[in-house]
Amino acid sequence: MSAKDFKAAAAANKRIYFYRTVAVGDKMVEIKEGLSYDDVLLIPKRSSVNSRKDINTEVMLSRRIKLNIPIVAANMDTVCEAKMAIALAREGGIGIIHRFLPIEKQVEKVLRVKRAETIVIDNPFTVLPNQTLHDIQNIMSEQGVHSILVVSPERKLKGIITSRDIRFETDLKKEASEIMTPVGKAITAPAGTTIERAKEILQEYKIEKLPLVTADGTLAGMIASKDILRQYSHPKAVKSRKGRLLVGAAVGVKKGFIERAGKLLEAGADVICVDLAHGHSDLGINTVRELKKAFGDVEIIAGNVATGEGCRDLIVAGADAVKIGVGPGSSCTTRIVTGAGVPQLTAILECAKIAKDYGVPLIADGGIEKSGSITKALAAGASTVMLGNLLAGTDESPGMTVIRNGRKYKIYRGSASIDSAVDRETIGEEIDALDYTPEGVEGFVPFKGSVVEIINQLLGGLRSGMSYSGAKNIAELQKNSEFVKISEAGKKESGAHDVEVA
Ligand code: XMP
Repeated sequence: MSAKDFKAAAAANKRIYFYRTVAVGDKMVEIKEGLSYDDVLLIPKRSSVNSRKDINTEVMLSRRIKLNIPIVAANMDTVCEAKMAIALAREGGIGIIHRFLPIEKQVEKVLRVKRAETIVIDNPFTVLPNQTLHDIQNIMSEQGVHSILVVSPERKLKGIITSRDIRFETDLKKEASEIMTPVGKAITAPAGTTIERAKEILQEYKIEKLPLVTADGTLAGMIASKDILRQYSHPKAVKSRKGRLLVGAAVGVKKGFIERAGKLLEAGADVICVDLAHGHSDLGINTVRELKKAFGDVEIIAGNVATGEGCRDLIVAGADAVKIGVGPGSSCTTRIVTGAGVPQLTAILECAKIAKDYGVPLIADGGIEKSGSITKALAAGASTVMLGNLLAGTDESPGMTVIRNGRKYKIYRGSASIDSAVDRETIGEEIDALDYTPEGVEGFVPFKGSVVEIINQLLGGLRSGMSYSGAKNIAELQKNSEFVKISEAGKKESGAHDVEVA
């Protein structure tokens, strides 16, 4: 394709692949050229941004879900369970709980996120008056809560027990009715009490928890002072209308995905992510259709694809967001094992041309090693980035911590690595390990501490990158940005060079 033809095609909103004519045997064939993040830079543009604080990173995750930062935790078993999802939603992003565990366990993780921050806890943990201290301690430590309400079998509130009440209690057979502060002595408020009024009561009586009861004394919920305070400490948190943190959950495409999705939605999952390496397949497309048919207005992330056609087919099937990425992930060996894939920047550019017409946001999934790649992914047309490796070494990731040569690491593994495959057997997917060709690896990533610090660093880089493109928000970044392809010399020049890095 000549430069003139290419410009014409680009102007007509057609393919943006570059073509190279190469000799294959005795034939000349045209081969598309694909680009990765490191092949390009963003050309600096005049900027009116005076401070990075003026930059707005709000963005759509899917057709109807808005985030305050464009970061999504990958649905991988060494990346995202409840702790990660809670931390990310508090920072304004979202986590997708992986699917490599039995349905009830995955549901439990979703419930944990939903309970983490809610002004009115609809279903506080309860015990019956004759349950023992032993039961109470177990519930408190398993659920990570510091109080428990005592109710009759008819759910009439009888009293409250807080961790302070049992701190020095040694008789594990003691019953709840003997330990609790009984109703009458315990402060309660009527169902429907406003947050403002609850704050006054909590302050007046210097208490941490306020049970809510209906006129006939039935338990109707609870308000915790910690949840009210959190509103101020996490101003960017993304929440549902009920004030609960947003969370997504993944499902597969085989046996039982409708049952799994139904239970996850019932638990409060805000978005269902169809987890499939080759989303541009009958299996992927049918799964999206089936989910829409079964659950109506469920919000669906579908993927993964690497072409405009793949993106269109999933959108037409009903996807509310599409995940882009075949083989760019740090633990992926798909491209090596199968020979298939498209370099990630080209994949995003191709899909963005299609998705724009449908108003469907794209998630750039995999291959992000540094903040500059986030800026490039968004500039190319993605709305958010999905991160695995960058989040895997944090306190909040579920991966195991190990010490190697005196340094701390966490395990990180590709979902298609052999170990994940073995785990899949536990959820009923038939896999014969000897007959299985893994497309991912398992390894170690350095331990990095709190995910909040990692996110702050990434966002600092993104904001700075946006200001280089003269963009105050992500829509402006996508409109203003211009890429320049760089040579090997350019790549060398881009990194630190000719100094011994300390
Ligand atoms: P990063 O680069 O952030 O990528 O570690 C995370 C993404 O990698 C994908 N993924 C896989 N791809 N084989 C693959 O080809 C695998 O075993 C595998 N596991 C995860 C996935 O899209 C994830 O979000």
